[in-house]
This record gives sequence, C-alpha cells and structure tokens, in this order.
Amino acid sequence: MARKLIVIANWKMGPSGYKKARELFISEKAKAKKYRKVKTVLCPQSVLLSEFSKMQNGSVSLGAQDVSFAEGGSFTGEFSASLLRDIGVSFVIVGHSERRALGETDDAVSRKLGLAVKNGLTPILCVGERERDIHGEYLSILRQQLFLSLSGIQRKDLSKIIVAYEPIWAIGKTADDAVTPDKLHQTSLFIKKMLLERYGVSPSSLPAIIYGGSVEPDNAEELISDGNVEGFLVGHASLDAGDFGEILKSVNG
Ligand code: 13P
Repeated sequence: MARKLIVIANWKMGPSGYKKARELFISEKAKAKKYRKVKTVLCPQSVLLSEFSKMQNGSVSLGAQDVSFAEGGSFTGEFSASLLRDIGVSFVIVGHSERRALGETDDAVSRKLGLAVKNGLTPILCVGERERDIHGEYLSILRQQLFLSLSGIQRKDLSKIIVAYEPIWAIGKTADDAVTPDKLHQTSLFIKKMLLERYGVSPSSLPAIIYGGSVEPDNAEELISDGNVEGFLVGHASLDAGDFGEILKSVNG
C-alpha cells in the first residue's frame, strides 16, 4: 500500500508570541482535519510541544525542530529523544541547514538519528547543497552528506526515516526561486539510487523523500504531481494558516 503523503510545518522561531502560536496551531489543526488524505505534522518551538501535545486530537501530529545527540546527562540546554516521545511528540527534524550553519556536524546528526529511531520517533533528515554548480559537484556533496548522516542507521531502520531534500539556495525565498519539478524529480531519483546502491534494500524499504525550500501555494501542486516526492517540509508558508491550508489542499488532491 502506498504511504500517505506528508506535509510538515517547520515554524522555526515563528510566530512571535504565545497567543499567536496557539491560534496558528488551532487554525492549522482545523485545516488538517479537512484534508485527511495527507499526514500533517506541526513543528512549533520546542517550549510549546508539551502543551500542544494535549491539543493534537488525531488531526495533526507533533514534531520537534531538533533533539539532543546525547541520551541524557550533563548537557545544559539539551533535551532528549525519550522525553520528546514521553510528552507525545512523534517526529523530529534533524540536521536542518540552519542548525548545521550553527556548527552541527554530520557525526552529531548521525547520533541524533540513531537516538530518534531508538526512541520510536520518526526523524526527518535534512540534506541539501549550498549551490547548484553546472558540473554536478553538488551531487557528490549531497551523497557525502547523506551517507555521513546515515552512518548510525541500520539497514532495517532505513524505512523509519524521512529524508527532506532542502537545497539551501531555495530556502526562505519565493515559489519562483524554488527548485523546478523536473530538477526535483532528478534529485529525488538520485537520492533513491544512492540509498538503493548503498543499502541493497527493496524500493519499498526506502525512506520517504520530501522537499523543502520555498514551497508555497503557487508551486505546491506542480511539485507534488511532477517532483517525485512524497510530501513537503514547509517553512515560511506554514506561518500563515491560509497558505498552509492551500498547500495541504494541493497535496490532498
Ligand atoms: P522556507 O519554506 O521558508 O523556504 O523554509 C524551508 C525550510 O527550511 C523548512 O525546513
């Protein structure tokens, strides 16, 4: 059976203020209820996860934007995968380019993935090149990032992961600057081929590949129909319940 398409809202540090965040959660939950063919995941700032967990109601699932590389111990400011699971979180974004830019290494990403899987969370591994050169150098970068990040993951756990292809050059712009459906199609094929060669699994055991980088109501439909992906990781458009609802509608079909 085909997997459900998935749309994940990465709110990053938005919206500003508790009241607006609560309103956004309630509005997006209502949109998600309308588009049941899509799995909708909301990733608010982590301080809100515990409260929002009590408001999930079956329409949406919750995701964290990061998790600790350690299981526990003296790591001030970190929070563990087991605690996320205990409070009702099911997904976690790992290795986002904005965290890598703050110094996160492939080794830390690999440890986080392992801990997420061990604790029953679905990790969303973000990979993506800084720029697309005409010689295809970016494909080697992508390959290396993918394999180093996945080094702690066993073959049997591969299907428990989601891979988000998020080219850095396309993040935080507009639909016109996002990847085109044909380029996305090729890149998704490339990622799948790399994983098939490396792990020797059947295609049905591959992770879901999703796309992030300026997904907006204007490009969601063409990207989902021609991009060879199973969903989206949405940044700025997820801070507007109307826009987010339009994206859900396009994916719902
Ligand atoms: P934008 O949709 O704002 O480009 O952000 C993409 C992203 O980084 C999601 O994780």
